[in-house]
Amino acid sequence: MKKFIGPKKIKTAVFISGKGSNLRNLIKFSKTKISPISIVLIISNTKKAKGLGYSKKYNIKKKIIDFSSKKFFEKNFINFLNEKKIKLICLAGFMKILSSNFIKNFRGKIINIHPSLLPKYKGINTHERVINNNEKFSGCTVHYVSSRLDSGKIIMQKKIRISKKETPKSLAKKVLKIEHQLYPSAIMKIYN
Ligand code: GRF
Repeated sequence: MKKFIGPKKIKTAVFISGKGSNLRNLIKFSKTKISPISIVLIISNTKKAKGLGYSKKYNIKKKIIDFSSKKFFEKNFINFLNEKKIKLICLAGFMKILSSNFIKNFRGKIINIHPSLLPKYKGINTHERVINNNEKFSGCTVHYVSSRLDSGKIIMQKKIRISKKETPKSLAKKVLKIEHQLYPSAIMKIYN
């Protein structure tokens, strides 16, 4: 397998809104020899995101961007990411919808992880809806971000069986576990 050496790694920003378990997992992956990426920036839309704590722990620059504020000037943000030479944006539990202009500026460079087997169950509350529909399987998907919500080209998926006693909570836990396997695999697939 190819080894990626420090400076040559693809400068990556991870966008979060919450706990950041995928962020933590991606940071750990990025430190392995086989990882093509290096995480240099954490972006959150809220200062309340617990995942921001990984900035200090792993010494990675963080920035809080209030995407809904009137003062938010997208062009400046795009320039900032370009100045930092960001070549990949990983959305990981990021709860804001990016503008089509932003997506156009980073075409093919923004990826997302979604806790369902897309194209089924786009949007929020996926696990409740999956269980209410008596699905036998669920899973997660890593896909390119396009201007339509959870609709860009699929990179990789991972499937799990739903047990008879499954609750939205237990399913969320199971799916999160496989998300942590899938996200690094999908990144490897993109760059190998
Ligand atoms: C994950 O299930 C992700 O797929 C979804 O939100 C959750 C985020 O978890 N969009 P975390 O913040 O990475 O722990």
